[in-house]
Amino acid sequence: MSVTTVIGTDLSEAARLLRGGGLVAIPTETVYGLAANAYDAEAVLRIFEAKQRPAFDPLIVHVRDRAQVDEVVRAVPPEAQALMDRFWPGPLTLVLPKASRVPDLVTSGLDTVGVRMPAHPLTQELLRAVPFPLAAPSANPFGYVSPTTAQHVADQLGGRVPYILDGGPCTVGVESTILGWEDGTCVLYRPGGVPVEDIEAVIGRVGGGKRAVLPVAPGMLASHYAPRTPVLIGPVPALLARHAHQRAVVISFQQRHQAQGNEVLSPAGDLHEAARGLFAALRRADASGADLIVAEVFPDEGLGRAINDRLRRAAAKREG
Ligand code: TXA
Ligand code: MG
Repeated sequence: MSVTTVIGTDLSEAARLLRGGGLVAIPTETVYGLAANAYDAEAVLRIFEAKQRPAFDPLIVHVRDRAQVDEVVRAVPPEAQALMDRFWPGPLTLVLPKASRVPDLVTSGLDTVGVRMPAHPLTQELLRAVPFPLAAPSANPFGYVSPTTAQHVADQLGGRVPYILDGGPCTVGVESTILGWEDGTCVLYRPGGVPVEDIEAVIGRVGGGKRAVLPVAPGMLASHYAPRTPVLIGPVPALLARHAHQRAVVISFQQRHQAQGNEVLSPAGDLHEAARGLFAALRRADASGADLIVAEVFPDEGLGRAINDRLRRAAAKREG
């Protein structure tokens, strides 16, 4: 069934819809989310339907303050508290022991829940206007590139969500960093908006998750965040030479290349600027009619790790 989708900044309308068990797309500093009352399993089910998301992929719960964290988790380890103090509100999700109040559907039956306090002022105001936290995945159809503007959401979920709260373009541009604890050790599940180096400066060495979190934690699925156009990642001149007969758009950090199209993410060499523009560039390249998207490997430091992670997953769709 199709609904009329409205883009606007009416917080009371957004809060009214959420209180009634409906969906609202919300701006965050990372990407737009598709939100519902995290305590209402029926409302949460609508998220899975609208995204065509498999039920094995758990959602992140967005909280307004530290007190709300204690409603949704059973315990906060000292390292998690230190990270909250340093990086919240901000692009960091912590996977912690789940409280019974959170419906199993939110966490796909896991005993843990991903929690994050978003930094976008409009969504913070919305969280203060409703008496529950918001379960929200990125507001894209499952497996596609995440939206960083209200229009991106409308382009793909128009007719499936009644209201898109317009908070302008996202300032970080890649999803949150996700951390969890395995046998007391902090592990990285997804590189994202907070660089791992910054996390290690607070709590020391972070490991790679040894144990599979789920069947697979889908942010970790090899093929994800993928445009429809095939993506190749690697040395750009060599890839262009090998595919000389195809029309290619190049996604690069600082330099233009001899190709049909170029998406240079930061001529000045700023990884924050590059991350901010990454998903919009992937969408433009996908819509350009090119045969191929060729992406460069970014510096493997700071936000460059999240950029490389998303590009590799986009490429894995055809290669893997
Ligand atoms: O920046 C973000 O994190 C955005 C904004 C909207 O907050 N959200 C986002 O959600 O990227 P989503 O659903 O697209 O990705 C969240 C990832 C999923 O891949 C899921 O597997 C993982 O987080 N996740 C959530 N809860 C988890 C849990 N309890 N254990 C392991 N992984 C979890
Ligand atoms: Mg997502």
